[in-house]
Amino acid sequence: MRWASLIAPLLGMTIGQSASAQALRCGPSILHCTDLVAPPELPGISGTLELQPVIGPFGVAVTPAGAPKYRLLAHVTGLPAPGTLGRYESYVAWAYTVTLDSVIKLGIVHNGRVPLGEIGREQFRVLISAEPSAGVRQRRGRLVLRGTSPGARLLAHRDLMQPVAPGAPVDAHAHGAGAWRMPPMLPGGSMMMPGMRHLTPSVAPWLPATDADVPAAVPRRIVSVRDGDTLRLVAGFVRRSVAGKSLLMYGFNGQYPGPLIRATRGATLIVQFENQLDQPSSVHWHGVRLDNHSDGVPDVTQRAVPPGGRFEYRVHFRDAGIYWYHPHVREDIQQDLGLYGNILVVPPNERWLPSVDREEVLALDDLLVDEEGLLPYGTETPTHALMGRWGNTFLVNGEPRYTLSVRRGDVVRFYFTNVSNARVYNLSFGDARMKVVASDAGKLEREVWASSVVIAPAERYVIDVRFDSAGEVALTNRVQALDHMYGTYAPEVDTLGVVRVSLGAGTSRAAKVFSSLRANTDVIAELAPYRRYASRPPDQTLVLDLETRELPQPVVMMLNALNVPMDWNDGMSMANWVSTGREVRWILRDAASGRENMDIHWRFARGAIVKLRIFNNPMSAHAMDHPIHIHGQRFLVISRNGVSNDNLGWKDTGLIPAGETVDLLVDMANPGTWLLHCHVAEHMGAGMMLAFVVE
Ligand code: C2O
Ligand code: CU
Repeated sequence: MRWASLIAPLLGMTIGQSASAQALRCGPSILHCTDLVAPPELPGISGTLELQPVIGPFGVAVTPAGAPKYRLLAHVTGLPAPGTLGRYESYVAWAYTVTLDSVIKLGIVHNGRVPLGEIGREQFRVLISAEPSAGVRQRRGRLVLRGTSPGARLLAHRDLMQPVAPGAPVDAHAHGAGAWRMPPMLPGGSMMMPGMRHLTPSVAPWLPATDADVPAAVPRRIVSVRDGDTLRLVAGFVRRSVAGKSLLMYGFNGQYPGPLIRATRGATLIVQFENQLDQPSSVHWHGVRLDNHSDGVPDVTQRAVPPGGRFEYRVHFRDAGIYWYHPHVREDIQQDLGLYGNILVVPPNERWLPSVDREEVLALDDLLVDEEGLLPYGTETPTHALMGRWGNTFLVNGEPRYTLSVRRGDVVRFYFTNVSNARVYNLSFGDARMKVVASDAGKLEREVWASSVVIAPAERYVIDVRFDSAGEVALTNRVQALDHMYGTYAPEVDTLGVVRVSLGAGTSRAAKVFSSLRANTDVIAELAPYRRYASRPPDQTLVLDLETRELPQPVVMMLNALNVPMDWNDGMSMANWVSTGREVRWILRDAASGRENMDIHWRFARGAIVKLRIFNNPMSAHAMDHPIHIHGQRFLVISRNGVSNDNLGWKDTGLIPAGETVDLLVDMANPGTWLLHCHVAEHMGAGMMLAFVVE
């Protein structure tokens, strides 16, 4: 268990230590390992089952339906020759559903390290039996080891709970402006803990308000930028109609999303920002390696721009890629209310990506609304500080129902940006085959096929899709939603939009290019020198952790032992809602010094290639996946849990599932003082950021 030994020192624990001297035990890697236990009459046998990450272009590998994919690795010791247990010739491993109603044969087992192939499910049981031959199709022989997948341990929790059924009367909550109303039920988050119905967040509710006449927002416009151009960018109130409700929201230049900036690499854009909001703001150019002065971080690179104030940004586009911009003040409010826009940077005289028939730049968002409109935000600090604010109304470029019309055979390039506060998506267009060509800050070494696209908050993926048959194809988010109360998963399918594919012969010239995968020799050559850093010990190690205080008792009960590597839904919506930045502190801890968040003062030499190890502590009170973003620089994700990534591409945001150890190589090329933070808006609002200096 190589990766487990990477993290053991961080937790002060020993791997493989237990009462009986040779017994194999998982230790702290509880979300990616399970102990295999022998029946009492076979005391000498023991083992573990390791769930290794399947490495692909996304932060985590899942099936199109959203179930996690793992590579199973058994470590077994003490197995006697099978014949000593009866008329047996070999040992065989089997994976069962938790209800034991379906089984797959994993493979032959012997002492030592045994790869058992891939599995695409969260909750399962593994049995290892002695069998008369290696070729058996069904388990008949004697059981020698058994184990339960880490995800199935959640099920033990439900027996302790006495849930309140949905629809049960909820005690009076004051309604109207200036009062909290209970959030709407979200998929998966069906049950409430006893005693929870009286709770409200410990902060005052907040919604935008103005006496002024507010214009209706218009869809975004495209701004094509030439070097030296100036763009006036005004953040102000807009009126939006979303799913039949008229909402007072925010917008850049009265548009939703903000203007789409198209620029050529090497250009510099002057942005004259004006704040016409009712609160301070700023603009951060996410992923753009610009001068530190224009990074838009209050108290680090500038003062927050007060209402009525202005600030001039010089935005220099150094790398081709798909970027975005958003305020860096109360993102949980300002970004959620519509302050975000995309930037597409292309090289001046070359085609950097294969040709396609059409390009779509799509920002994905989810808004939390009920009958009365937007659910109020926290005034002093964010609500939903545990899991972030998950919406119940999906928006693509600000519209609840995205539609696109294409001709049959067309190849469409989608530039996806996840601008949601907290949600990780698993996107697909029916069964259409998708080609991953690029991510945040450029192309991958090699294009790859994908059956779905996992995109965490602030990440970008460039995906080519060919629509082969006429009719309607839905763009869906398909996940396995966890009910944190019961510990059970249920499929969730959200429809984000529809692609209408017209009849008739396809005339696409891009179709031929689409059918093959390209190796990007330029990227391979550029990244080759970085691989030698991979085997080096980390220069810095961060531990992701959580501290809570004064949380109400029913919330504390919810947090007990309910950790999973990834949360695909808000499966504890009441408990999450009432947890604010006052009770919850999310932590980036420097393993070397023990310092946390803004008390960390790393300094790096300009041009240094820094190996940064991030370990997401699975033992914390409510471990969760975190999309970690680094300002002003770019990085490569070189390994996860010790398994290396052989298809690199420059990124600025990377997903760190709970329980994983992810190694990044950061190219510290850009001098200044920069942030590293979690991009779940409420996690950052609850402290999860640090600043470092590149000299
Ligand atoms: Cu898009 Cu500091 O973030
Ligand atoms: Cu986070």
